[in-house]
Amino acid sequence: MHPLQEQEQEHQQLIDLLDALDLCISNGDSANKVSKYLSDFVALAEEHFKNEEEIMETYEYPEILNHKKEHANLLEQLFILKNKLDNGQTPFGKDYMQLLRNWLEEHLLGTDNMLEEFLYQVNVNSNKTYILS
Ligand SMILES: [Fe+2]
Ligand SMILES: [Fe+2]
Repeated sequence: MHPLQEQEQEHQQLIDLLDALDLCISNGDSANKVSKYLSDFVALAEEHFKNEEEIMETYEYPEILNHKKEHANLLEQLFILKNKLDNGQTPFGKDYMQLLRNWLEEHLLGTDNMLEEFLYQVNVNSNKTYILS
């Protein structure tokens, strides 16, 4: 699978998992269940960010530092939240979910979109077919 397709697929998985987490909270499910979904979301986000950063390094993306900073900020927020939940606090509410969703959408539609455009241009300007074939 080429990097653009892989990125797209992982974004969809992140959105699906966030939807599942949202539903879980709306249904008033147990803290354990919420925690499990949140752990899955954090693991997936970590994996996805790592993959995306590898792509940026491979293709020498000029905006890599800012992009990595955004990833690190989100992960930090997620770890703080997960810690609170693991210690018995329930900081979740609709407001928080909305915040998380807004952040994800903003990153996907803004920062990640710029990277996608760059990868697309690299492909267009090269006769290699390693990105889009
Ligand atoms: Fe990203
Ligand atoms: Fe991404």
